Amino acid sequence: MASLFSLLTIGDLTLPSRIVMAPMTRHRALHGKIPGSLNALYYAQRASAGLVITESTEIDPHSSVDVPTRPGLYNDAQQAGWRLVTDAVHAAGGRIFVQLSHMGRAALPAQLRDGRWPVGPSALAAAGKIYTANGPEPYVEPQALSLDDIAGIVGEFADAAARAKNAGFDGIEIHGANGYLVDQFLRDGSNVRTDGYGGSVENRFRFLREVIEAAKAFWPAGRIGVRLSPTNPFQGMSDSDPVAHFAAIAALLQPLGLAYLHIVAPAVVPDGQADVAPAIRAAFHGPLIVAGGYRREHAEAVLANGGADLVAIGEAYIANPDLPQRWRTDATLNAADKSTFYTTDAKGYTDYPSLELVDD
Ligand SMILES: Cc1cc2nc3c(=O)[nH]c(=O)nc-3n(C[C@H](O)[C@H](O)[C@H](O)COP(=O)(O)O)c2cc1C
Repeated sequence: MASLFSLLTIGDLTLPSRIVMAPMTRHRALHGKIPGSLNALYYAQRASAGLVITESTEIDPHSSVDVPTRPGLYNDAQQAGWRLVTDAVHAAGGRIFVQLSHMGRAALPAQLRDGRWPVGPSALAAAGKIYTANGPEPYVEPQALSLDDIAGIVGEFADAAARAKNAGFDGIEIHGANGYLVDQFLRDGSNVRTDGYGGSVENRFRFLREVIEAAKAFWPAGRIGVRLSPTNPFQGMSDSDPVAHFAAIAALLQPLGLAYLHIVAPAVVPDGQADVAPAIRAAFHGPLIVAGGYRREHAEAVLANGGADLVAIGEAYIANPDLPQRWRTDATLNAADKSTFYTTDAKGYTDYPSLELVDD
């Protein structure tokens, strides 16, 4: 029976605990989307996690909103910046995967570089509104990707995967969650293509399969993870049958020998939302990470009952760099200050105290 501090081997990597630092955008890169010493300190402070997963990291200058403090991994300066981060995490005894992402339709034209128009699997605008500096604005209808465009983006994921290796990461996580491009292909509320990338679950999975295959030119499967969020409505997403569709997707991932499958599936399922985790667990027998509001007691329970092998923690990791030690010793947790989640300096980023500092 797994517990918080039982070892787990994923691929050929041994993790000292089941506690994962969830990927979190923090807007602290240097201008030019280049990680620097502040980011290295932040991640190194959290290196006692079983596994650290970085914030969403862009694979191409056009794959995300043109905000200078969101990091990329598509040029030499960014790669060198990430090397500072991985060296610092490794020096502190940790392991770190980079989350590689493309936003697809989840941006407005004014937020993209060079007058680009948002792209997606289909010309379907995301439901709802996007929060901008000028207040909430409706999403736009994206341009449906051509077959050539799709091949180009798969190539960008491959280039970023290669750079991830050169930057010293231990592996990569493909961001297939939260309304990003891979998720837009997977869910039928955003993908109504009639070619080989739409229609059946297998076809909607094709883009993700191609991204995984492309990354395998640089990484063994055991160093590639995938994050999915079958029921998360964030960024105007929906699916007509998330349990059946994502159980089928998990079954398609099962034979690929990945490091892990990571699902955003709330510890406490909101009323009216499907509970997808059991069906995914039944279909996927490799390492499974769950995330979404997990407190220590939820984490212990899901590990004990075999519902997951690892638990990823978001907000509590922002505020508690030494979260595993705090859980191990029953120490009080620092509260996270939401007002500094996306500000751009050290405040609310690297100044949360660890236990040693509190005790001094
Ligand atoms: C500030 C912040 C930034 C986030 N950025 C990302 C991200 O870049 N990629 C991602 O997949 N999820 C992101 N998430 C979602 C978290 O990874 C996690 O799934 C979510 O916070 C739920 O876990 P929690 O309840 O333990 O915080 C973010 C969450 C927060 C709070």
